[in-house]
Amino acid sequence: MKKWKGQKSCVDRRYSLWKRTCVRVCVSAGVRTSCLFAMAKRLQARRLDGIDHNPWVEFSRMASEYDVVNLGQGFPDFPPPDFAVQAFQLALSSDYMLNQYTKAFGYPPLTEILASFFGKLLGQEIDPLKNVLVTVGAYGALFTAFQALVDEGDEVIIIEPFFDCYEPMTLMAGGRPVFVTLKLSPTQDGELDSASNWQLDPTELASKFTSRTKALVLNTPNNPLGKVFSEAELELVASLCQQHDVICISDEVYQWLVYDGHQHISIASLPGMWERTLTIGSAGKSFSATGWKVGWALGPDRLLKHLRTVHQNTIYHCPTQGQAAVAQSFQHEQARFGQASSYFVQLPEAVQRSRDHMVRSLQSVGLRPVIPQGSYFLIADISDFKSKMPDLPGDAEEPYDSRFVKWMIRNKGLAAIPASIFYSMPHRKHFDHYVRFCFVKDESTLQAMDEKLQRWKTELRP
Ligand SMILES: Cc1ncc(COP(=O)(O)O)c(C=O)c1O
Repeated sequence: MKKWKGQKSCVDRRYSLWKRTCVRVCVSAGVRTSCLFAMAKRLQARRLDGIDHNPWVEFSRMASEYDVVNLGQGFPDFPPPDFAVQAFQLALSSDYMLNQYTKAFGYPPLTEILASFFGKLLGQEIDPLKNVLVTVGAYGALFTAFQALVDEGDEVIIIEPFFDCYEPMTLMAGGRPVFVTLKLSPTQDGELDSASNWQLDPTELASKFTSRTKALVLNTPNNPLGKVFSEAELELVASLCQQHDVICISDEVYQWLVYDGHQHISIASLPGMWERTLTIGSAGKSFSATGWKVGWALGPDRLLKHLRTVHQNTIYHCPTQGQAAVAQSFQHEQARFGQASSYFVQLPEAVQRSRDHMVRSLQSVGLRPVIPQGSYFLIADISDFKSKMPDLPGDAEEPYDSRFVKWMIRNKGLAAIPASIFYSMPHRKHFDHYVRFCFVKDESTLQAMDEKLQRWKTELRP
């Protein structure tokens, strides 16, 4: 094997630099360059093992390749409210200093309004400097929280079905996910299922806590099921967290999106929970502007100071203008809190109508929706299809719901997301008969969905 001059020093450099340098050296030394890449050191960090596959990539690609009504990914296809758009326009055109960095842990008017707004809701004195961290979306808050608090070997309890990033975030931090599955209580014949029938089994939940449990992830209203955890369920979670000295990471991005008079309760507002809870929120979901990517984590300084350490060594600053727009939007909401003119009152009313529209429409072809109490989503039971057409194309190992969604995209022009991806690997096979639909859509999108379903219905006729 030929060696070339400088080999040792160039492998220590960044990969691209190494490649460029080595190619130059080897070519001049007369070595074939195709042999170089086999000699590269392991590239990816071990923390990426097992988390490189992301089902969203495949389903989003398929949805863009076919002529579909896209009810897959969770984003509104209607504009944010005028006051929020105007706030962003003002942020772009008023103070030119908003083009520059702001305070690392959040633009002061935003941390101040978040502190006063959520202080009232949580019944807590919130210090904008110590108890609020502004992040790149709720995703950023979650990532920062896992990195800051989960250590090698720590166990993290995740209630499934779960927003799928909790598992890889736990793994990347070196933790071990421990899953507890919501149990479905049977419905009467013919009755539609409701997300409220999916419940925590208290004994099973208690059995998941060990001396290694560091955190529990709660998501209410839940994605993908739309379950809004009841006060009794939150009290159960709270008492177990306190008993076992466990932190609660509470993802509440859909907190304004609750229907049928259900009430969202923040677990941090329960006695003894503020001190051990991170409450995570999203301006994207609050103001129907998911592309703004402004999120936050609220919590006691003893937890937030560690999130600040991660933040200052990773992202450091979030974009200033988006934060200014969100600050002003919250000021608008604070002045109207609970009133008919509040967006946080109007949005759920409008979205509930879209939910009801979708529920009626999906039933027309034999999809059986589980009525969500909150969030952007519902899951629909496809068991009837599974028994009538079990052999849909696809790999035998591929869960049925995944094959069903691909079939639906290709043949029915409707894109959704298989619900099994919201379960841990060992449990996926038990939950491969649901698909998730997003109903936070404009009336025109829902009408386009109806046309596709109408065609599907006529094809069903004998
Ligand atoms: C439960 C849940 N948490 C967090 C997020 C991420 O929110 P953001 O867009 O603010 O990063 C989402 C987005 O879909 C979500 O469904």
